[in-house]
Amino acid sequence: MAKTIEQIKAHKNQSEPLVCLTAYTARIAQILDRHCDLLLVGDSLAMVLYGMENTRGVSLDMMINHGKAVVRGAESTCVIVDMPFGTYEDSQEQALENARRVMDETGCAGVKLEGGENFATTIERLVSAGIPVIGHIGLMPQSVEEASGFRVQGKTDVGQEQLLKDAKAVEVAGASAIVIEATIDSVSALITRAVAIPTIGIGASAACDGQILVTEDMLGITGDQVPKFVKQYAHVSEGIERAVESYAQEVRSRAFPGEANIYKKKAS
Ligand code: KIV
Repeated sequence: MAKTIEQIKAHKNQSEPLVCLTAYTARIAQILDRHCDLLLVGDSLAMVLYGMENTRGVSLDMMINHGKAVVRGAESTCVIVDMPFGTYEDSQEQALENARRVMDETGCAGVKLEGGENFATTIERLVSAGIPVIGHIGLMPQSVEEASGFRVQGKTDVGQEQLLKDAKAVEVAGASAIVIEATIDSVSALITRAVAIPTIGIGASAACDGQILVTEDMLGITGDQVPKFVKQYAHVSEGIERAVESYAQEVRSRAFPGEANIYKKKAS
């Protein structure tokens, strides 16, 4: 049975934090499934899978296709799909129509959208229509250009106050949890104490009720240029490189395909 969004929402102040990772494909979802509580089909797939410069080029159809794949692969995790840039900002009707498509077409448990106080009424509208929402505050990659780059948020008193207001507004609007990206540890601790819904940190310290990372970052697939908050648990790209080098050598020397890899006529 898949973990429900209510179970995620109830996971507040627990001794064991929520374990969350991104997934974009069915196979990766299958591998992550038994170790995680929540899988996010993040719009970070723009850069990680499609080689785009930022997350702004992702369409709703792309998110829906990857969402379907992850829901197919995940059995016991709660799957959340990101609302991409340009699909929820114009009006509550736009947000509702697009969030409904994501829910209906993927079968996911809820959507995530970037924004604090300024998107509280949108979150409220989706939640009142029965669509579970996870908020995303702090560093918000979709608006990183307006915010002058990938910077740690909440470092000043004013910044801290705004993040706290954002978190409270998202909570009051009915969100099931809040992702906090790239802020200092004292601010995430303050927010985590101040709201009754789980906080899920990415670069936001161990004070949060859960942690999330981009899977390809923590596996060492995206390369060594990862943010400070990423811990690389493997260097998978090196393994791929070695395997492909051996394959290329064997093809060139005709060592592959060998006897074990070819079909032969059966003796009659
Ligand atoms: O798009 C994404 O992957 C995210 C993160 C929270 C990892 O939003």
